[in-house]
Amino acid sequence: MNKEKNVDDLRVSPAIAKPPVVGSTGNQDWTGNKNSIYKTLGASNHTEKEREENDYYATEPKAVELLCQLEKFNEWIWENACGEGHLSKELIKQGYQVYSSDLIDRGYGMNPIDFLQYDKTWHGDIITNPPYKFAKEFIEKSMEVINEGNKVAMFLKIQFLEGKSRKQLFAKYPPKTIYVSSSRLLCAKNADFEGMKAGGGSAVAYAWFVWQKGFTGKTTIEWFN
Ligand SMILES: C[S@@+](CC[C@H](N)C(=O)[O-])C[C@H]1O[C@@H](n2cnc3c(N)ncnc32)[C@H](O)[C@@H]1O
Repeated sequence: MNKEKNVDDLRVSPAIAKPPVVGSTGNQDWTGNKNSIYKTLGASNHTEKEREENDYYATEPKAVELLCQLEKFNEWIWENACGEGHLSKELIKQGYQVYSSDLIDRGYGMNPIDFLQYDKTWHGDIITNPPYKFAKEFIEKSMEVINEGNKVAMFLKIQFLEGKSRKQLFAKYPPKTIYVSSSRLLCAKNADFEGMKAGGGSAVAYAWFVWQKGFTGKTTIEWFN
């Protein structure tokens, strides 16, 4: 990893009290209208194929707004797969200090940082919707790099509950709470929310999985939305 982009160094610098803003989407509030989507799509010069390979599905900001009503987090949050900042911007609105990074430069945050290669301590919480194909690795790495008592919140398909290797993951790291979304929230491929709505919305059910490092009790399931 480029030393200049060492998150620990940046963590203590007031200069990143708000994440670095690059490109046209940086200061944009989420509105979900066609204009914002047009700008969002225009913000990156990466091809459709590159984006798919890196599993880019932007999360409807409302998902994290609702999470913040359910859980309190550390003042400092790392959105470690930030995409175009849909979650980061909402977390900033909620009053958190957010450090944002992604493997791919999508015009927001500090890039490129391969989170799976990060090997230092992060003195805060972690919130993201990770690349689904590496979700287990993201959870393991997140739990490794945070301090005892800090939290990891991942927006994942409910289906993530099943599977043999995930069973082992949940045995090692039992989530403290799983918040099931009772109404569908959107994760739009390449941030095309309007296209997704026009196509009938989401066929996928999601939940927030929340871990607290050191927690060894039984997982609680709650419902929201
Ligand atoms: C499902 S998208 C979610 C984007 C954003 N978290 C959101 O919710 O809108 C996953 C993101 O993970 C990024 N990604 C994939 N592999 C990564 C890695 N090893 N380290 C950091 N980011 C990665 C992708 O580039 C993509 O932007």
